[in-house]
Amino acid sequence: MSKRFKLGVLGSGKGSNFRAIYGAIETGQVRSSVALVASDREGSGILEFAENKGLPTFLIGPNKYKTKLEPEIEASLAGRLLESGADLIVLAGYMRVLKKPLLDAFPGKILNIHPSLLPLFPGLNAWEQALSAGAGETGCTVHWVNETVDGGEIIDQEKIPVLPGDTPETLHARIQEKEHILYPRVIAMLESQ
Ligand code: GRF
Repeated sequence: MSKRFKLGVLGSGKGSNFRAIYGAIETGQVRSSVALVASDREGSGILEFAENKGLPTFLIGPNKYKTKLEPEIEASLAGRLLESGADLIVLAGYMRVLKKPLLDAFPGKILNIHPSLLPLFPGLNAWEQALSAGAGETGCTVHWVNETVDGGEIIDQEKIPVLPGDTPETLHARIQEKEHILYPRVIAMLESQ
Protein backbone atom coordinates (compact mmCIF):
# COMPACT_ATOMS: atom_id res chain seq x y z
CA MET A 1 0.00 0.00 0.00
CA SER A 2 1.29 3.40 -0.87
CA LYS A 3 0.13 6.69 0.64
CA ARG A 4 -0.40 9.78 -1.44
CA PHE A 5 0.43 13.03 0.25
CA LYS A 6 -0.80 16.46 -0.67
CA LEU A 7 2.39 18.47 -0.71
CA GLY A 8 2.58 22.02 0.59
CA VAL A 9 5.83 23.34 -0.83
CA LEU A 10 7.69 26.39 0.50
CA GLY A 11 10.63 27.97 -1.30
CA SER A 12 12.46 31.24 -1.71
CA GLY A 13 14.83 30.59 -4.60
CA LYS A 14 15.31 29.06 -7.98
CA GLY A 15 13.29 25.98 -7.16
CA SER A 16 15.48 23.25 -8.61
CA ASN A 17 14.51 20.86 -5.81
CA PHE A 18 10.84 21.47 -6.43
CA ARG A 19 11.38 20.92 -10.17
CA ALA A 20 13.00 17.58 -9.35
CA ILE A 21 10.08 16.59 -7.11
CA TYR A 22 7.58 17.69 -9.73
CA GLY A 23 9.47 15.72 -12.36
CA ALA A 24 9.28 12.66 -10.11
CA ILE A 25 5.51 13.13 -9.82
CA GLU A 26 5.27 13.28 -13.61
CA THR A 27 7.23 10.04 -14.04
CA GLY A 28 5.30 8.28 -11.25
CA GLN A 29 8.30 7.82 -8.93
CA VAL A 30 6.40 10.05 -6.48
CA ARG A 31 2.63 9.42 -6.23
CA SER A 32 1.74 12.48 -4.15
CA SER A 33 0.25 15.65 -5.60
CA VAL A 34 0.99 19.34 -5.08
CA ALA A 35 -1.62 21.15 -2.98
CA LEU A 36 0.10 24.56 -2.80
CA VAL A 37 3.42 26.21 -3.64
CA ALA A 38 4.14 29.21 -1.40
CA SER A 39 7.04 31.61 -1.60
CA ASP A 40 8.19 34.69 0.26
CA ARG A 41 9.88 36.04 -2.91
CA GLU A 42 7.91 37.54 -5.75
CA GLY A 43 9.30 36.38 -9.08
CA SER A 44 11.30 33.53 -7.53
CA GLY A 45 12.07 30.61 -9.81
CA ILE A 46 9.99 28.24 -7.70
CA LEU A 47 6.92 30.45 -7.97
CA GLU A 48 7.33 30.99 -11.71
CA PHE A 49 7.74 27.27 -12.32
CA ALA A 50 4.62 26.49 -10.27
CA GLU A 51 2.62 29.18 -12.07
CA ASN A 52 3.74 27.86 -15.45
CA LYS A 53 2.55 24.40 -14.42
CA GLY A 54 -0.82 25.83 -13.37
CA LEU A 55 -0.34 24.82 -9.75
CA PRO A 56 -1.98 26.71 -6.87
CA THR A 57 0.48 29.32 -5.59
CA PHE A 58 0.61 31.73 -2.69
CA LEU A 59 2.87 34.75 -2.32
CA ILE A 60 3.62 35.38 1.35
CA GLY A 61 3.06 39.07 2.04
CA PRO A 62 5.68 41.58 3.13
CA ASN A 63 6.97 41.16 6.64
CA LYS A 64 9.36 43.12 8.81
CA TYR A 65 11.91 40.33 9.45
CA LYS A 66 14.44 38.74 7.07
CA THR A 67 15.01 35.36 8.68
CA LYS A 68 11.54 34.50 9.98
CA LEU A 69 7.92 35.58 9.50
CA GLU A 70 5.89 37.76 11.81
CA PRO A 71 3.64 35.44 13.84
CA GLU A 72 0.40 36.70 12.22
CA ILE A 73 1.85 36.25 8.73
CA GLU A 74 3.11 32.78 9.53
CA ALA A 75 -0.30 31.93 10.99
CA SER A 76 -2.00 33.05 7.76
CA LEU A 77 0.44 30.95 5.73
CA ALA A 78 -0.35 27.95 7.96
CA GLY A 79 -4.05 28.64 7.37
CA ARG A 80 -3.60 28.69 3.60
CA LEU A 81 -1.67 25.43 3.72
CA LEU A 82 -4.34 23.76 5.87
CA GLU A 83 -7.10 25.07 3.57
CA SER A 84 -5.26 23.64 0.57
CA GLY A 85 -5.45 20.20 2.18
CA ALA A 86 -1.67 19.89 2.44
CA ASP A 87 -0.65 17.04 4.73
CA LEU A 88 3.12 17.01 4.13
CA ILE A 89 5.09 20.26 4.05
CA VAL A 90 8.20 20.27 1.88
CA LEU A 91 10.75 23.03 2.47
CA ALA A 92 12.63 23.42 -0.78
CA GLY A 93 15.09 26.26 -0.35
CA TYR A 94 12.83 28.19 2.03
CA MET A 95 15.14 30.73 3.64
CA ARG A 96 13.25 31.53 6.84
CA VAL A 97 13.23 29.78 10.18
CA LEU A 98 9.90 28.13 10.98
CA LYS A 99 8.22 29.14 14.22
CA LYS A 100 5.27 27.91 16.26
CA PRO A 101 2.39 28.77 13.91
CA LEU A 102 3.67 26.39 11.21
CA LEU A 103 5.30 23.86 13.53
CA ASP A 104 2.06 23.55 15.55
CA ALA A 105 -0.14 23.35 12.46
CA PHE A 106 1.91 20.49 10.96
CA PRO A 107 3.52 18.61 13.84
CA GLY A 108 5.98 16.01 12.58
CA LYS A 109 4.91 16.67 9.00
CA ILE A 110 7.54 19.13 7.74
CA LEU A 111 10.54 18.06 5.66
CA ASN A 112 13.64 20.07 4.83
CA ILE A 113 16.65 19.50 2.61
CA HIS A 114 20.00 20.86 3.73
CA PRO A 115 23.22 20.97 1.66
CA SER A 116 25.53 19.17 4.10
CA LEU A 117 25.85 15.91 5.95
CA LEU A 118 24.02 17.03 9.09
CA PRO A 119 24.76 17.35 11.96
CA LEU A 120 27.83 18.89 10.28
CA PHE A 121 27.53 22.42 8.93
CA PRO A 122 24.01 23.55 9.85
CA GLY A 123 22.97 27.06 8.88
CA LEU A 124 23.76 29.19 5.87
CA ASN A 125 26.15 28.39 3.00
CA ALA A 126 26.89 24.90 4.26
CA TRP A 127 29.02 24.12 1.19
CA GLU A 128 31.32 27.05 2.04
CA GLN A 129 31.51 25.81 5.61
CA ALA A 130 32.57 22.38 4.31
CA LEU A 131 35.26 23.93 2.10
CA SER A 132 36.59 26.16 4.89
CA ALA A 133 36.74 23.22 7.27
CA GLY A 134 38.77 21.21 4.74
CA ALA A 135 36.18 18.41 4.75
CA GLY A 136 37.02 15.46 2.50
CA GLU A 137 33.36 14.80 1.79
CA THR A 138 30.04 16.53 2.14
CA GLY A 139 26.58 16.02 0.72
CA CYS A 140 22.96 16.65 1.53
CA THR A 141 20.42 15.61 4.14
CA VAL A 142 16.63 15.37 4.25
CA HIS A 143 15.35 15.71 7.80
CA TRP A 144 12.20 16.38 9.78
CA VAL A 145 11.86 19.97 10.90
CA ASN A 146 11.59 20.94 14.55
CA GLU A 147 12.31 24.16 16.46
CA THR A 148 16.09 23.70 16.16
CA VAL A 149 17.44 25.03 12.86
CA ASP A 150 18.60 22.05 10.74
CA GLY A 151 18.36 19.97 13.93
CA GLY A 152 15.42 17.60 13.41
CA GLU A 153 15.61 13.85 12.94
CA ILE A 154 17.65 12.81 9.91
CA ILE A 155 15.79 10.69 7.36
CA ASP A 156 18.37 10.11 4.61
CA GLN A 157 21.58 11.52 3.15
CA GLU A 158 23.67 11.47 -0.03
CA LYS A 159 27.45 11.93 0.06
CA ILE A 160 29.88 13.46 -2.42
CA PRO A 161 33.65 13.89 -2.24
CA VAL A 162 35.09 17.40 -2.00
CA LEU A 163 37.46 17.54 -5.01
CA PRO A 164 40.77 19.37 -5.27
CA GLY A 165 40.06 22.72 -6.89
CA ASP A 166 36.41 22.79 -5.81
CA THR A 167 35.01 26.29 -5.43
CA PRO A 168 31.86 27.12 -3.48
CA GLU A 169 30.00 27.16 -6.80
CA THR A 170 31.24 23.81 -8.13
CA LEU A 171 30.70 22.14 -4.78
CA HIS A 172 27.18 23.48 -4.35
CA ALA A 173 26.31 22.46 -7.93
CA ARG A 174 27.45 18.87 -7.28
CA ILE A 175 25.56 18.77 -3.97
CA GLN A 176 22.45 19.95 -5.79
CA GLU A 177 22.70 17.10 -8.31
CA LYS A 178 22.43 14.74 -5.35
CA GLU A 179 19.63 16.77 -3.74
CA HIS A 180 17.53 16.26 -6.85
CA ILE A 181 17.87 12.50 -6.44
CA LEU A 182 17.52 12.43 -2.65
CA TYR A 183 14.39 14.53 -2.12
CA PRO A 184 12.08 12.59 -4.47
CA ARG A 185 13.49 9.33 -3.12
CA VAL A 186 12.67 10.31 0.48
CA ILE A 187 9.12 11.36 -0.41
CA ALA A 188 8.58 8.07 -2.28
CA MET A 189 9.97 6.18 0.73
CA LEU A 190 7.57 7.98 3.10
CA GLU A 191 4.68 7.13 0.77
CA SER A 192 5.54 3.47 1.07
CA GLN A 193 5.68 3.44 4.90
C1 GRF B 1 19.36 23.85 -1.71
O1 GRF B 1 20.75 23.77 -1.77
C2 GRF B 1 18.84 23.33 -0.39
O2 GRF B 1 19.64 22.35 0.17
C3 GRF B 1 18.87 24.57 0.46
O3 GRF B 1 18.51 25.62 -0.40
C4 GRF B 1 18.85 25.28 -1.75
C5 GRF B 1 17.61 25.43 -2.58
O4 GRF B 1 17.87 25.32 -3.94
N1 GRF B 1 17.99 24.40 1.59
P1 GRF B 1 16.68 25.29 -4.99
O5 GRF B 1 15.88 26.57 -4.83
O6 GRF B 1 15.84 24.08 -4.71
O7 GRF B 1 17.36 25.22 -6.31
